[in-house]
Amino acid sequence: MTGTATLFTNISQLVTPGVGVQRGAAMRDLTVIPDAALLVQDGVIQWVGARADAPATPDERDLGGVAVVPGLIDPHTHAVWAGDRLADFEARVQGVPYEEILARGGGIRSSMRATGAASVEELVTLARPRLTALQASGATTTEVKSGYGLDFGAEKRMLQAIRVLQAEFALVPTLLIHVPPTDDRAGYVQAVCRDLIPEVAREGLATAVDVFCEREAFTVDETRAVLEAARAHGLRTKLHADQFHAIGGTELACDLGALSVDHLEASGDAQIAALAASDTVATILPGVTLHLGLNAAPGRSLIDAGAAVAVGTDLNPGSSPVFSTQLALALAVRLCHLTPAEALTAATVNAAAAVGLRDRGALAPGQRADFLTLHSADWRDLAYTLGAHPARAVYTGGHAR
Ligand code: NIG
Ligand code: FE
Repeated sequence: MTGTATLFTNISQLVTPGVGVQRGAAMRDLTVIPDAALLVQDGVIQWVGARADAPATPDERDLGGVAVVPGLIDPHTHAVWAGDRLADFEARVQGVPYEEILARGGGIRSSMRATGAASVEELVTLARPRLTALQASGATTTEVKSGYGLDFGAEKRMLQAIRVLQAEFALVPTLLIHVPPTDDRAGYVQAVCRDLIPEVAREGLATAVDVFCEREAFTVDETRAVLEAARAHGLRTKLHADQFHAIGGTELACDLGALSVDHLEASGDAQIAALAASDTVATILPGVTLHLGLNAAPGRSLIDAGAAVAVGTDLNPGSSPVFSTQLALALAVRLCHLTPAEALTAATVNAAAAVGLRDRGALAPGQRADFLTLHSADWRDLAYTLGAHPARAVYTGGHAR
């Protein structure tokens, strides 16, 4: 049975990128419709256009003369964790590097100890307000990773917590193979491929597998083994690569047809060229640049080379305590030199592509009716505002949250 259609009117500007992934200069091609209307039925957009051309519909909602943009998609978060990293933060601001804290057994490993000790219920309770914050900032779909599991049981508890929260939020779950144990890493990688990945695939606990490919984490060969096992079990692949050192992860991910490579702060010309020549989305995480004081990912050069760039918060306790998807978009403009239009595309259709989705991110017939009304009549406030929510209301499936 089909429900009644609703026509949203009094939209100062309806602004959208094209449907599907946008590369290079096409990231700047937004459609801006002044005095627009938006027709929604059964959670799906039926029609968009000028108010004057809208089909007659008994159920009309006046949006108050403000701008409407697609709901944001946050393609990279670690929103499930226990414990905190406040001591690391204090040490870091006094000059101890992030990688050194990790090498000493702190950092990610301290989050693993705390998270490994938490129950599914505790993890759900801890993650809920973080996801609520991302949503209030404009995120209508959010990717969430595991990766703080000390053992496979803890990894699965993290994924189960994400599954519980899927009743409240649109989440995309990813299994993250984050840091190796200090002993028998070969045995660990084998067990991930032989036991964990098949189990996670069988139970439908994740749609993709991610690996942290880095000097202090997994080598390129270990990463290849994990990503190949993921593919063999029907899971998509992604990578954390080039955060501190470009050791070959980006090239590997592009070769294997990964959905995305994320971070890229240390990427050079070879990695930019590999991404530009592939279908793999380059996901930049400017919150990490802000919080760790790293170089910014080369967002401008990636787009100029023709890559598809997405942006996310990387919300996590150690490298990016950024609880706003809109802030990540706004920081991509300041730190990675995207234009506001490119940043909107990066945070919508390209972020959807980075998590393997095509049914959202644009305001066009057939797309999910996930959209934001802003406080402003000019959509550019979305990229301009720092430290407050420019989104007045967040709609998912045509309903205000
Ligand atoms: O995306 N770099 C590796 N992983 C996370 C950080 C996790 C943490 O510090 O707890 C990241 O930055
Ligand atoms: Fe991350």
